[in-house]
Amino acid sequence: QQKEEENTYKRYEETMSSLPREKGWFTEHIYRHQGFWYPSYYLPGVMVVQDQNHFQAHASDILLATSPKCGTTWFSAIVFAVVNRKLYTISSQKHPLCTFSPHDLVPRLEHTLYINNRIPDLDMLPSPRLLGTHIPYSSLPQSVLDLGCRVIYICRNPKDTFVSMWHFINKIRAAMSKSPLPLEEAFDMLCAGASDFGPFWDHALGYWRASLHRPQCVLFLKYEEMKADPAVHVERLAKFMGCPFSSEEVKEGVVDDIIRLCSFESLSSSEVNKPGSMLKFYFRQGKVGDSVNYLTSGMIERLEQITENKLHGSGLTL
Ligand code: A3P
Repeated sequence: QQKEEENTYKRYEETMSSLPREKGWFTEHIYRHQGFWYPSYYLPGVMVVQDQNHFQAHASDILLATSPKCGTTWFSAIVFAVVNRKLYTISSQKHPLCTFSPHDLVPRLEHTLYINNRIPDLDMLPSPRLLGTHIPYSSLPQSVLDLGCRVIYICRNPKDTFVSMWHFINKIRAAMSKSPLPLEEAFDMLCAGASDFGPFWDHALGYWRASLHRPQCVLFLKYEEMKADPAVHVERLAKFMGCPFSSEEVKEGVVDDIIRLCSFESLSSSEVNKPGSMLKFYFRQGKVGDSVNYLTSGMIERLEQITENKLHGSGLTL
């Protein structure tokens, strides 16, 4: 069976090698597949996920979709804590978030599950299956769309996302003994659309439009809005996922407990996310607006102009 799985990946690696490519951010190349750029490390797995012989959604699946650095870690923790709050007491020291990374509790399809020649048996996961992904809306597995699975999308303003990405990528590159990617070069790559799972704006627009057409299936949230008023958005999330908070729960402070458990301070100080582990790279500042400390006014102007042009007429602001 292992041989069969290896052959499946090999076939997709061959397909990948015939696709247009550009210089990558942490991999040597990124490849263009169905209008988006993928790191070579993840693309074969994405293609395996798209093959219905290897991945079949369940109607009860809940997908957490993001562009890299838009809050995947934070929202994975929140989604897990909300869905499983009857199973695990939030304030307990024994909560899974105290010992596991949010990335293990909401595993990403192409990052954790379909990688390294693996075709996992996801029927083993408890229902509802909580799955993460960076795959753009238009490339999601067909069964996710056909079954009307609930999809939560998290977006973040492109300036902070870029600065977060640049730091993250350079930590990964250092761990791989690669030289740092200069800020200006990374910025040009982003503006050209050639970023991991980018173009960034097209990624957001795909989910944005889907959230307008199928609001019962796609919930579009922003990192900044969660920062500004977490209780409102945690309650929205719970309602969307079909497990709204009762008024007793709200009165007992369950929503606030979840916010505290999933806060930057709490998650980043948990043993599993401490220095020494690559998981630590997912925590830097967790703030809104830090990009002004890195981008020149010219860069900010250019990014804002691209954002305005790309989102024009969509109703989406970032
Ligand atoms: P910064 O680099 O701006 O600090 P992702 O999880 O999608 O990889 O995104 C990582 C970004 O989310 C990083 O942003 C990280 O610090 C921030 N982050 C991680 N955990 C967070 C939390 N619990 N609350 C708020 N932001 C968080």
